[in-house]
Amino acid sequence: PSVRCLGKERTLGMIKPDGVSGNYTEEIKMIIVDSGFSIVNERLTQLDKETASAFYEEHSSRSFFPDLVSYMTSGPVLAMVLEKRDAVSDWRGLIGPTDAQKAKISHPHSSLSCSYSIRALCGKDSQRNCVHGSDSTSSAEREIKFFFEDVVSDDIASHQHDEL
Ligand code: TYD
Ligand code: MG
Repeated sequence: PSVRCLGKERTLGMIKPDGVSGNYTEEIKMIIVDSGFSIVNERLTQLDKETASAFYEEHSSRSFFPDLVSYMTSGPVLAMVLEKRDAVSDWRGLIGPTDAQKAKISHPHSSLSCSYSIRALCGKDSQRNCVHGSDSTSSAEREIKFFFEDVVSDDIASHQHDEL
């Protein structure tokens, strides 16, 4: 690998159906780029029940699972490969807590400290939280493969931005 790649990491970011249909895509991409990530690859796709269930397999026994699958199949999602140093943890920090209501709680200095997260911007609650981020480097590897190598093939649009 070339020297400029040293220390870089990739994660899977996704704009969920409410984010895409609510026209948050461009604003979220601006935040992504302003925060130092490169969008290496992106794919707009409609998940079906089978693919959404496979993506969230780890939650299949949870009571919220059927609602989660309905939500995730309610419209197109935009999957993105995001790259920067510490991409996995930095993206999780940028999207904020799972419960978008918690993300919206204002902090004493929120207007000054940039603590406002993407889920605060476009999420609604602990289900409709508008964005996804891999929770570890091993999840990132699985989820990038999921969208960009295996299961998801019914593209609406995809763009490769690799500057290789
Ligand atoms: P989880 O992996 O716990 O959160 P995160 O997306 O922050 O990694 O849960 C996956 C998704 O499942 C979450 O984004 C939305 C949905 N979900 C619910 O619908 N209800 C819930 O109570 C939880 C915890 C998650
Ligand atoms: Mg998770």
